[in-house]
Amino acid sequence: MNSPNNDPQVHVINHPLVQHKLTLMRKKEASTNSFRTLLNEISMLMAYEVTRDMPMQEVEIETPLETMSAKVIDGKKLVLVSILRAGTGILDGMLSVVPGARVGHIGLYRDPKTLQAVEYYFKMPKDMQERDVVVVDPMLATGNSAVAAIERVKATHPKSIKFVCLLTCPEGVATLRKAHPDVPIYTAAIDRQLNSHGYILPGLGDAGDRIFGTQ
Ligand code: URA
Repeated sequence: MNSPNNDPQVHVINHPLVQHKLTLMRKKEASTNSFRTLLNEISMLMAYEVTRDMPMQEVEIETPLETMSAKVIDGKKLVLVSILRAGTGILDGMLSVVPGARVGHIGLYRDPKTLQAVEYYFKMPKDMQERDVVVVDPMLATGNSAVAAIERVKATHPKSIKFVCLLTCPEGVATLRKAHPDVPIYTAAIDRQLNSHGYILPGLGDAGDRIFGTQ
């Protein structure tokens, strides 16, 4: 993992497996099936990094041979918050390695003219004040959806919030860092730039369309 511009809150997960799979996903000829499978696999690998600092506690257990003190994850279950609809792609992979996580959903669409986020759905688990949250969306592009989603999640007063995306660009990182300097960003790559339609270049196209085969 590295932190560009010495910003310790921006984590680029440059593990060879993640980078190799991301390259396969970017190719325009990648099928819906392989795109989805690769996103799932990358999300599992990213979950490993994102959960690295989860608190642990010691419990006493019995192996077939003797009693021992062993580590388990402490506290209430993590909450994965998916920004609909493309967040589902990351959510599925993360849930396969953190199967006990609770799940929240935020429905946001991007107004094609203003590129601003418009909310149409919001549902979180209970006891948010006692939980750590990971907000997921594959593309951090303008940053408007992520900023709006995190604002809504903050209103539920969770213990902490992290943001995970597959791809971002300098504009998206700057917008999110400015609006929510307390929220670390985890990504597989920071691409060159945003275009005038709010797409990341070189990017991988519309992540939602590629996950669901709706292009
Ligand atoms: N959303 C996408 O799906 N792709 C982009 O490049 C930007 C936003």
